[in-house]
Amino acid sequence: MTQHFLSLLDLSPEEFRGIIRRAGELKQLQHRGEIVETLKHRVLGMIFEKSSTRTRVSFEAGMTQLGGAAMFLSPNDTQLGRGEPIEDTARVLSRMVDCVMIRTFEHEKVQRFAEYSQVPVINGLTDLVHPCQLLADMQTWFEHRGDIQGKTVAWIGDGNNMCHSYINAARQLDFRLHIACPEGYDPDPQVLDPAADRCTIFRDPLQAATGADLIVTDVWASMGQEEEQKQREKDFAGYEVTAALMAQAAPDALFMHCLPAHRGEEVAAEVIDAEDSVVWEEAENRLHAQKALLEFLLT
Ligand code: CP
Ligand code: NVA
Repeated sequence: MTQHFLSLLDLSPEEFRGIIRRAGELKQLQHRGEIVETLKHRVLGMIFEKSSTRTRVSFEAGMTQLGGAAMFLSPNDTQLGRGEPIEDTARVLSRMVDCVMIRTFEHEKVQRFAEYSQVPVINGLTDLVHPCQLLADMQTWFEHRGDIQGKTVAWIGDGNNMCHSYINAARQLDFRLHIACPEGYDPDPQVLDPAADRCTIFRDPLQAATGADLIVTDVWASMGQEEEQKQREKDFAGYEVTAALMAQAAPDALFMHCLPAHRGEEVAAEVIDAEDSVVWEEAENRLHAQKALLEFLLT
């Protein structure tokens, strides 16, 4: 059976922790300028049906650093954009490359691709989940604070793909998750229900943040929801992560955001640009965590 990475739940908790550990090693080696070519001559195909800065650059740089190569495929210039079925594309690409990363809208599309692929498929973000980001977020937490087991994370904002991946991470790594979202923006019950014992929904963001060890947020309108931006700005009023909200959290609480961020909307500039914001390392760790993931899937 080919091992895919469509969701964090495709890993065992031990595998998740192993990837975080290896990501830390790869980071140190990279910072020391040591060459690690564990994926020599291997090729990653990357299908992007949505925009990306971090995901594209980290996968592309990561493959090159490990001795392989990555190929950027946009629907605009491939037959995918002209209606070639996903099943056919999967069968063809997986005879040519060693791994495929996909960023798209419907989660079902990556599942269908994986079903027809002979090689590992990585979810680079769907409307449902963003598991690669959680590898980096958890690596960042472990580097700063050690194990996350038993800690409390507060998710402030939309019950979106990132929130869903936090819910899955809470199950895998055994932490508590406070989710503050306006009514109508709750996470999908299919994701939330199996984690109900460790997740609590709040309508008051300050209450959700109280005593939390990590505060996390994300944009109010995700990719594909651009026309809802104005309505969402109204619905999410009061959900901005401000210094006052951070003051409710534990004294050494960290702040994370997957980026791109909108200062003055979901997060105040004074929070994201403060000392206890680890967003730049979080972004850098996309590189190291995904290199560890690629090694895990391909070696
Ligand atoms: N966080 C994240 O996935 O960023 P990009 O959209 O730039 O890839
Ligand atoms: N929730 C955001 C995450 C971007 C990395 C989106 O899907 O647009």
